[in-house]
Amino acid sequence: MPTQAVSPVPDFLYGTAWKEDRTPALTELALRKGFRGIDTANQRRHYFEEGVGQGLAAAYRAGLVKRDDLFLQTKFTYQGGQDHRLPYDPAASLSVQVAQSMASSLDHLATDHVDSFVLHGPSSNYDWTDADVEIWEAMGKERDAGRVRLLGVSNVSLRHLQQMAATRAELPAFVQNRCYARLGWDRAVRMFCGERKIIYQGFSLLTANQEVLHHPLIANLAASVNATPAQVVFSFARAIGILPLTGTSSADHMQQDLASRDLMLPPNAVQTIESMAG
Ligand SMILES: NC(=O)c1ccc[n+]([C@@H]2O[C@H](COP(=O)([O-])OP(=O)(O)OC[C@H]3O[C@@H](n4cnc5c(N)ncnc54)[C@H](OP(=O)(O)O)[C@@H]3O)[C@@H](O)[C@H]2O)c1
Repeated sequence: MPTQAVSPVPDFLYGTAWKEDRTPALTELALRKGFRGIDTANQRRHYFEEGVGQGLAAAYRAGLVKRDDLFLQTKFTYQGGQDHRLPYDPAASLSVQVAQSMASSLDHLATDHVDSFVLHGPSSNYDWTDADVEIWEAMGKERDAGRVRLLGVSNVSLRHLQQMAATRAELPAFVQNRCYARLGWDRAVRMFCGERKIIYQGFSLLTANQEVLHHPLIANLAASVNATPAQVVFSFARAIGILPLTGTSSADHMQQDLASRDLMLPPNAVQTIESMAG
């Protein structure tokens, strides 16, 4: 089963969901603080992709970064996940919707290619359907045409991935999932990815795991390594092979989140956290 060659990607992604009018300023701030990977989606309901483009433009003008310094990731979202502000003609075929969504993303981001194009979620919570097969083929065509470097899928179960693999489709370079500690930090999907060199991107590492963040064990560990509980969680995530996303709106937290890259947790602490709620 072919897997895409994975080019270097940043070790932290800045997520732009739910920022609305603050999207341009927060995108620019994230770049100023040192993030080089930006996650967005052509889904106006939760993201303001055009605002991300405005933030990028401001950063280019200020001489902070160039396009080639950045890893830009966007998503195709089915109509069911959108509101009325669609980036495609809902009467068009799914393949055409993918092409229209990508053209609109390139316009929003003022670029000729994105580094990663992710299927925001399969059409069914349960199965990898014929619609997903059509979308995935269309996404592959965007990649083949040079408008995308790498492809990904999001909000997928192990079953989705196994069914996708059974179609003999090209496997994704990325899986982006919400990562719950109580599910062993999405252990089954992470294992599938690890065996196939798929990069696992984890989101809601903090918001989905409040019980971990406030656990005395994490507080003690954080104090012993002179870090915050949030930094411990990000450092732990990286130690088990997760590429983390943060959606912080705070300049201090941006700095702290990036600083967690220098934090090395003792191996026994990593094992304890991995199994504490799994
Ligand atoms: N594929 C999907 O379906 C999907 C779904 C959800 C999200 N995402 C992506 O993932 C990104 C991140 O989403 P998320 O759910 O992980 O994050 P999020 O919901 O945006 O929130 C992160 C939360 O953690 C807090 N935080 C961050 N750093 C912190 C620190 N160092 N100390 C204390 N609190 C801290 C933030 O508060 P402050 O703002 O106060 O720092 C915020 O409340 C999104 O923006 C989006 O790009 C994708």
